[in-house]
Amino acid sequence: MQALQVIPVSIDRRIQAGDDLAELLHAHLESIVWPDGSRSLTDGDVIVVTSKIVSKSEDRIIQASSRDEAIDREAVRVVATKTTPKGVTRIVQTRHGLVMAAAGVDASNVDEGTIALLPVDPDSSARAMAMTLRASLGVQVAVVITDTMGRPWRMGVTDVAIGSAGLQVLDDYTGRTDSYGRTLEMTVIAIADEIAAATDLVKGKVTNAPVAVVRGMAEFVTADLDSGSAALIRPLDEDLFSLGTAEALALGRREAARNRRTVRAFTDDHVADEVIKEAISSAITAPAPHHSTPWRFSVLRQGAQRTALLDAMAAAWRKDLRATPDISPADIEKRIARGDLLRTAPVVIVPFMDLANGAHTYPDEARSGYERDMFLVAGGAAVQNLLISIAAQGLGSAWISSTLFCPEVVQHQLDLDETALPLGAIAIGYPATTPAPRPPADPSVFELPT
Ligand SMILES: Cc1cc2nc3c(=O)[nH]c(=O)nc-3n(C[C@H](O)[C@H](O)[C@H](O)COP(=O)(O)O)c2cc1C
Repeated sequence: MQALQVIPVSIDRRIQAGDDLAELLHAHLESIVWPDGSRSLTDGDVIVVTSKIVSKSEDRIIQASSRDEAIDREAVRVVATKTTPKGVTRIVQTRHGLVMAAAGVDASNVDEGTIALLPVDPDSSARAMAMTLRASLGVQVAVVITDTMGRPWRMGVTDVAIGSAGLQVLDDYTGRTDSYGRTLEMTVIAIADEIAAATDLVKGKVTNAPVAVVRGMAEFVTADLDSGSAALIRPLDEDLFSLGTAEALALGRREAARNRRTVRAFTDDHVADEVIKEAISSAITAPAPHHSTPWRFSVLRQGAQRTALLDAMAAAWRKDLRATPDISPADIEKRIARGDLLRTAPVVIVPFMDLANGAHTYPDEARSGYERDMFLVAGGAAVQNLLISIAAQGLGSAWISSTLFCPEVVQHQLDLDETALPLGAIAIGYPATTPAPRPPADPSVFELPT
């Protein structure tokens, strides 16, 4: 086991645009005195440089008045926003892939009225510095460029590596055995970030030591300078926390209706009662006339009651089809077979609009009809809510019209009054295949001219 030594390196002057950092560092690094009295650097040392001085040397300092536009330019996506008494902080993903408050744009340790942007390409800045320093010092060193970050779930900030060269930035322990003899399955150590954080303890933000050297990490210093800290950025599709809570909720709300698709093939997986309860509790938040709550739901799992209902509906439909001209017996059976989904789905819900629960009565047929239409519309709203909830819970559904065509049969089979109007039947289960994404549609096509 090797001890770690971390030595701060003070720079005796302010860094300016155009300064050659590697050249400037060379002299300072040559004169480091180690605790054992030795001087200069050796193979395997890691030179850790605060990104602020890299930004300064690369002329990345701008006027503070253009801060918001600068953040816009640096950001490729907004991850989270937070409103504080001082204003709105945007946590964004930068062009580099880093997720940072204000895109890493920062006013500390720069002249009044100015702000610093992150280096354009910190890996390539590190590579250039490492190449020059290796040549001038004659030793195989690595270079890490750091910046300070807040972290979700943790108070306080730490330094992380935003650029590096000549360093293995991750140490994958997968397959190694721990001290108890167990095989590690998913431990990957962020070596470069740990080095960065260690040096922040000696560099500090209020001293003039923007550089530190770490000795004791030589096993991670590599001959090649090509790999960089970009490897530390978690790919978006592997990120469980790719959005802030408020943004994720907003996205979920926005997409909830869109994500519902009709699903006509299900697996045999059991659908829990809680799923159905949740869907019905969403359904009954639909708007309804006269402050009424006129919806009822018959939940039918596979079994005798459902089979009897579907048999009776099929018999009524067969009778209707036989009375329809130009339909062959084969066509009749084909059409009836389309309803098989209601026999095989793990759950079928028959939604009802019960007019006895809140509908007004009128002496004339016209107004009675409008009242009924109004209630049916509210029924549609509830069913759509139910379907959206089913989709949001990861299940699929198909709203099938059949019960609308034989209300008496349904009322009789389920022992309901004639005021209970069935609104079709909804087959529910886990989708056998992933439903196709909804093709984009232009909403203006649906707008009537005004
Ligand atoms: C009142 C109503 C009745 C429907 N009846 C049937 C049906 O009998 N059989 C069927 O396969 N789909 C039925 N559908 C589903 C539509 O075919 C489906 O919504 C349409 O193809 C659009 O696909 P999407 O739901 O994935 O957007 C019905 C939908 C509604 C609203």
